[in-house]
Amino acid sequence: ANATRDRLRIAIQKSGRLADPARSLLAACGLSWRESRDKLFCYGESLPVDLLLVRDDDIPGLIADGVCDYGIVGRNELDEQANARLEIGLSPAYREVRPLGFGGCRLMLAIPETWEWEGAQQLQGLRIATSYPAILRQWLSARGVEASVVELSGSVEIAPKLDTADLICDLVSSGATLKANQLKPVETLLDSEAVLAGPVRGFNDARADLSAMLLRRMDGVLKLKD
Ligand code: PRP
Ligand code: ZN
Ligand code: MG
Repeated sequence: ANATRDRLRIAIQKSGRLADPARSLLAACGLSWRESRDKLFCYGESLPVDLLLVRDDDIPGLIADGVCDYGIVGRNELDEQANARLEIGLSPAYREVRPLGFGGCRLMLAIPETWEWEGAQQLQGLRIATSYPAILRQWLSARGVEASVVELSGSVEIAPKLDTADLICDLVSSGATLKANQLKPVETLLDSEAVLAGPVRGFNDARADLSAMLLRRMDGVLKLKD
């Protein structure tokens, strides 16, 4: 995991909401790639910085394991996996290096439209569907609430209708998905956006200079954007 390398590896989402803006940001930093046939590994041409195209969920683990040096991923995914690691006694092994100002969304509790929201205590004994069980458990336990966390990897909003959960905790961007499923947002657990995630410790090989240069360029690009 700590093998020395003379090229930097950045993991980004292969497809999905963060995929295009992540690539554009890196291109604006002066990076370009020769695309391989399968396009999962893009060899850096302008600089020794390669891209790995993966599922966003895999990005925190790839950095933690030292397979990738950096990743562009939602704070929601980073925090969830950091919390999950803490639950089993592991340190996060990665950190948020820069907020990137795109992919904004909130991790929220949402209840059926017909309910009145009276606060966290109301959740006692209820079933909550989510793809973010560790963040949710942490939030509930901080409030002394015992509820059952139903883990789903997608289409969480359908759970109340199927009666597999009473309410949900999921990402909200425009709010259209909640609305279409007769749910309303009531509490924010996390304000999320795309972030640059990186290692906890610095590099002691060629990646140190590359990494400093990348961050310098990225700061320049981010400044121009706001
Ligand atoms: C995300 C999220 C919500 C939806 C919110 O799902 O899980 O379902 O987007 O967006 P909105 O507030 O603009 O409607 P996504 O489409 O990424 O699919 P997934 O849940 O299968 O990952
Ligand atoms: Zn995902
Ligand atoms: Mg969804």
